Amino acid sequence: MKTNKTVIITGSSGFIGANLTKRLLIDNNDIHIVGLDNMNDYYDVGIKEYRLNELKSFNNYTFIKGNLEDKELINKIFKEYKFDIVINLAAQAGVRYSITNPDAYINSNIIGFYNILEACRSNPIKHLVYASSSSVYGSNIKVPYSTDDKVDNPVSLYAATKKSNELLAHAYSKLYNIPTTGLRFFTVYGPAGRPDMAYFSFTNKLVNNETIKIFNYGNCKRDFTYIDDIVEGIIRVMNKAPEKRNGKDGLPMPPYALYNIGNNHPENLLDFVQILSEELVNAGVLPKDYDFEAHKELVPMQAGDVPITYADTTPLERDFNFKPHTSLRDGLKEFVKWYKEYYKK
Ligand SMILES: NC(=O)c1ccc[n+]([C@@H]2O[C@H](COP(=O)([O-])OP(=O)(O)OC[C@H]3O[C@@H](n4cnc5c(N)ncnc54)[C@H](O)[C@@H]3O)[C@@H](O)[C@H]2O)c1
Repeated sequence: MKTNKTVIITGSSGFIGANLTKRLLIDNNDIHIVGLDNMNDYYDVGIKEYRLNELKSFNNYTFIKGNLEDKELINKIFKEYKFDIVINLAAQAGVRYSITNPDAYINSNIIGFYNILEACRSNPIKHLVYASSSSVYGSNIKVPYSTDDKVDNPVSLYAATKKSNELLAHAYSKLYNIPTTGLRFFTVYGPAGRPDMAYFSFTNKLVNNETIKIFNYGNCKRDFTYIDDIVEGIIRVMNKAPEKRNGKDGLPMPPYALYNIGNNHPENLLDFVQILSEELVNAGVLPKDYDFEAHKELVPMQAGDVPITYADTTPLERDFNFKPHTSLRDGLKEFVKWYKEYYKK
């Protein structure tokens, strides 16, 4: 694929951002990517540095360490580089952390996103793509989750900030004719992923002979989505902005779109732990006779959590001829391979 584009990716040292940046740099020699990340210590900064180091070897990559909340900096970067495409992935992630650290969410996800929107208003762009989350569905009973479902009942501040992003983007699309696409990601996992997420923290605990806590007594289902599928989805979406067109009343319709990117195949938490443990043994990270039962504790549901996530991906398939397809076993195998190598296990 050939492009001639200047793209900003915020959160470029994060899990999804770094994988997206790397894939774009490998596939396109006439793209210039500016990555912005504040390298915060919400989780092990060493992993963010590891991802950043991989990207630094590309000539057409410029890294800027900075905050989304720094309006002056954001405006300066937008003026200087005149971006074609903006991909906003920087955010304070995590549902549980939002219960005790609300400030981080308002600063990064609300003020930071507003700064991006304002910069897009002053500096014309072709497409703004931004990360939303399956958490906006709250405790939606109906499955699979559709972008047509009413999502006015967030069960965490994190979810509320992601839903707010969608509302703000809609207003900016309508008022200023800015093409925006929100992507609701569903539980993303893979190599060099986020240590705060279950597949990673469970692995750390099992390796350290600690006990893992399985919430809602294991009666949870998650639509686990492999990182390469998320990256493929973002790339297809970023290259096709919603069209600018007029409605029946002759007035412009907001060039606004919203999609789920999820595996469309929820897995039971206990099956997920079973597969993870089998792959850890297969790779030799854990011994063959490891006593998993002794390291498993079934506990009640946690505040902010939901019992199931399940993405309806029909619109993604219809508009982009794509849906995630990596099986949990194949994806976890790749994660375990990376883990063994990275931690020299
Ligand atoms: N990983 C998932 O399962 C998942 C699911 C749904 C939605 N999302 C969303 O996708 C996006 C990327 O997620 P991720 O898993 O890669 O998370 P991540 O935490 O690995 O990446 C986010 C990056 O943004 C940076 N950042 C945070 N606040 C910033 C700020 N104010 N200014 C500049 N940089 C800042 C962090 O340092 C980090 O490197 C996030 O918006 C997240 O909410 C992720």
